[in-house]
Amino acid sequence: MQSLNRVLGSLNAYRFIAIGAVVSLLLLTAANAVTPQLFRWAIDQGIAQKNLQIVLYSAALMVLVAVGRGLFNFGQSFWAEAASQGVAYDLRNTIFTKIQNLSFSYHDQSQTSQLLTRITSDIEQIRTFVGTTLIQVVGSVVTLVSIAIILLLMDWQLALITLVMVPIAGFLLAQFLTRNQKLFERVQEQLGNLNGVLQENLFGIRVVKAFVREPVEMGRYSKLNDDLIAVNMRTIRAIANTFPVIFLLSNLITLAVVGYGGAEVIGERFSIGELVAFNSYLMFILQPILLIGFAAPVIAQAAASAERVYEVVDAEIEIRDRPNAIPFEKCGGRITFENVHFRYPGAATEALKGISFETKPKELIAILGATGSGKSTIMNLIPRFYDVTEGAVRIDGRDVRDLTLESLRSHIGIVFQETTLFSGTIRDNLTYAAPNAPLERVIEVAKTAQIHDFITSLPDGYETLVGERGVGLSGGQKQRIAVARTLLTDYRILILDDSTSAVDAKTAAQIQEALDELMRLHTCTAFVIAQRISTVRNADRILLMNQGQLVAQGTHDELMHSSPLYGSILESQVRQAA
Ligand SMILES: Nc1ncnc2c1ncn2[C@@H]1O[C@H](COP(=O)(O)OP(=O)(O)O)[C@@H](O)[C@H]1O
Ligand SMILES: [Mg+2]
Repeated sequence: MQSLNRVLGSLNAYRFIAIGAVVSLLLLTAANAVTPQLFRWAIDQGIAQKNLQIVLYSAALMVLVAVGRGLFNFGQSFWAEAASQGVAYDLRNTIFTKIQNLSFSYHDQSQTSQLLTRITSDIEQIRTFVGTTLIQVVGSVVTLVSIAIILLLMDWQLALITLVMVPIAGFLLAQFLTRNQKLFERVQEQLGNLNGVLQENLFGIRVVKAFVREPVEMGRYSKLNDDLIAVNMRTIRAIANTFPVIFLLSNLITLAVVGYGGAEVIGERFSIGELVAFNSYLMFILQPILLIGFAAPVIAQAAASAERVYEVVDAEIEIRDRPNAIPFEKCGGRITFENVHFRYPGAATEALKGISFETKPKELIAILGATGSGKSTIMNLIPRFYDVTEGAVRIDGRDVRDLTLESLRSHIGIVFQETTLFSGTIRDNLTYAAPNAPLERVIEVAKTAQIHDFITSLPDGYETLVGERGVGLSGGQKQRIAVARTLLTDYRILILDDSTSAVDAKTAAQIQEALDELMRLHTCTAFVIAQRISTVRNADRILLMNQGQLVAQGTHDELMHSSPLYGSILESQVRQAA
């Protein structure tokens, strides 16, 4: 309920639209309440008195009121929908912005598909609540109360007989809902399962085909589809069982009204017109009860959705600027790891166990080690994708946590181990972090990354579309675009995390050669994570990682003599090459 309160609070930004909806709703209720009175007037003063003028007047008024009802009805739903669109728009933007700002550790622990659901179906759920359910419930309550008052004023005894229906129908409906609550939840759950399988299948369709698992996947999907139909049919049956009872109840009330009211009319305590009017009010009583009943599960769902959405909105941003953070401008090239320990959130063991080293200005550092030894983790700590658990990472003696994130990250050029390109042209992708780079610069970095020739061989050159629906690129081509994309930024420290793993050895060596030169010219420090000995051979220093520990460091020649591990890695590579 607290989260729904917050949703209502967010309506504040659209208060004039919301007030428009409420005013329309009140006018609609008034128009609804007035119509039976016009009937009464037509019958008692017109038909019974044989006064054609009053009959015609009341008919004209009824037309007018009907037009008004149409207008107010339109206004009510239009403005309620408009306000709900605004609320959903704001929520979508808020949650998207939040997702941009959340730390790596949050994204590690949450599933992409769950975040997708929150942005799409949970927000839609909230929107439906604001745009439809809320106004219906408010309208129903207003109608019920005002009709009850009118009936009591008209004939309190008959009114009491009639109003007995309200609690009974309410009770039946509540019973129906509680008994079938599980069923409604099952429908939602089944729908979720079905979509889950669909999504997973779409992501993994290549694997499915490669292992010829299509029939199994189809079986899995149609099984869930059958289940969905089965629960849906059960809810339909449950509805078909309960509703005739409620309608029967309302028919019985009509009988009571005609019977008791008829007797009153004969006894001349009640006019025919009043009886007809009274009877037409009955229609307005049943509908609100049904609406409120059906709104209950929708409200519960919306509350659950709102809670999930606000959970993301309120998620703590673990990595943020300290109050007195200063910008990172000059880089001297001295990067220090001081007894750094690091444990990924939720992980049982430390990924880094007491790492200490210091780089010298303009040094080219290579990091070598088996997969899982902690190479990427070391690199993650310099731009503060994560903060150290213990110890410190310093640049020129200053703790990276004392620098502003924006300045720190914009001066660290990093090429990730896994390449992600966005949909758009190759040029868009290259200039992702430097949108204003002139074409000559773009071509220059593409040449350095050994991808220019490939790009110009494409029919549309730099304007070729990539990503979804664009041309397919090989892993190595993507990697080279990613390298060029990073080279175009205003980096001082460069980090290449296994960025040429999918590129053939010859091209990789060419890239490395071009990069070596560039690194020594433009960077204050550069790190290269690589598996190939040929790549690390040129480095000024090699850090050798093993199971989260820095086991040896030195030049290629030094390590050849001093480190058995280095020797064995080298040996296995030489054997592979042979
Ligand atoms: N996001 C993460 N969450 C939890 N554990 C992780 C994460 N990334 C890496 N690890 C773990 O940390 C260790 C070091 O990983 P990593 O630095 O990626 O190794 P390398 O880059 O040397 O292959 C591994 O045991 C890995 O399972
Ligand atoms: Mg790695």
